[in-house]
Amino acid sequence: MDDLRNKYIERIAEAADEAVLEELRVQALGKKGEISLKMRELGKMSPEERQVAGPALNQLKDEINSAIAAKRAALEDTALDARLRAEWLDVTLPARPRRAGTIHPVSQVTEEVTAIFADMGFAVAEGPRVETDWYNFDALNIPGHHPARAEMDTFYMHRDEGDERPPFVLRTHTSPVQIRSMEAQGAPIRIICPGGVYRADYDQTHTPMFHQVEGLAIDRDLSMANLKWVLEEFFTAFFGTTVKTRFRASHFPFTEPSAEVDIQCSFEGGTVKVGEGDDWLEVLGSGMVHPKVLQAGGIDPEQWQGFAFGMGIDRIAMLKYGIPDLRAFFDSDLRWLRHYGFASLDVPTIRGGLSR
Ligand code: PHE
Repeated sequence: MDDLRNKYIERIAEAADEAVLEELRVQALGKKGEISLKMRELGKMSPEERQVAGPALNQLKDEINSAIAAKRAALEDTALDARLRAEWLDVTLPARPRRAGTIHPVSQVTEEVTAIFADMGFAVAEGPRVETDWYNFDALNIPGHHPARAEMDTFYMHRDEGDERPPFVLRTHTSPVQIRSMEAQGAPIRIICPGGVYRADYDQTHTPMFHQVEGLAIDRDLSMANLKWVLEEFFTAFFGTTVKTRFRASHFPFTEPSAEVDIQCSFEGGTVKVGEGDDWLEVLGSGMVHPKVLQAGGIDPEQWQGFAFGMGIDRIAMLKYGIPDLRAFFDSDLRWLRHYGFASLDVPTIRGGLSR
């Protein structure tokens, strides 16, 4: 019995894995195992012999069983240790770089413009891109026969044959939001309206969809002087340098008097630099809101007057960030977007200090 004990205890201790352990268990304690066979021999023994051999065999059986259990637990521990070592992960390693999307220059500049005008007390107003011809034209003092309608290269929405109602248009400018704001809030007003507009036009400096920001201020005592101050304040903050403006007499049906506004720039070395030099670049249309337009918006022109302006967002984005071709703005070319786009955490620039 001692031989049996020594043999199994030794082999169990040396067992390399679970399978060897199981084999040893069957060899010793299985139906035809060595110890089981010995148990069967008990029947042939005399009662005296059996009284000694029986408990001894049972004890041996228990010893082997617990040796196997202990070895199994040890093997499991070793396996777990090995796995923990193999699957170890350094969570302090820096992450693999992953390309993030960028903010489109139009979005970035819209944010910048909004922040600057917000500083001057202008709220953001919005209107639909699909407009009625009343808001886009008539209410702005552009009647049906007016040449401005033809000049705008308007996109008209489809009407079924026989439907005689005037068609909806894709708004050709953000000016209809002037009327919508007057109707919605009455005087006084101080709003800007950034957004997309549409004209059938396509070359290096024109795309069929582009962006404008409208400005409208209505109060009891406003003049062109206020308009000029607001615009110079804006350009200086936007370009981060003092920018002179030049007002040229012009004509818009919805303003009287009207002015086109140029900003000071230089074209030296093939690049445009704003805020220096003796050249001028046209960036917006503006003027004092026409009394008929105030009336169309339900505001009494005897009591109130105001100024309005409309500026090309894409245009000033090109100027500020040195982007040469307008068409690329809307090509969705990833290389272009990565080059000219902004990190999502860039804060809009106000007053000096470019954000990149
Ligand atoms: N709506 C005009 C345009 O698109 C710009 C403008 C707006 C002019 C407001 C005067 C006043 O050209």
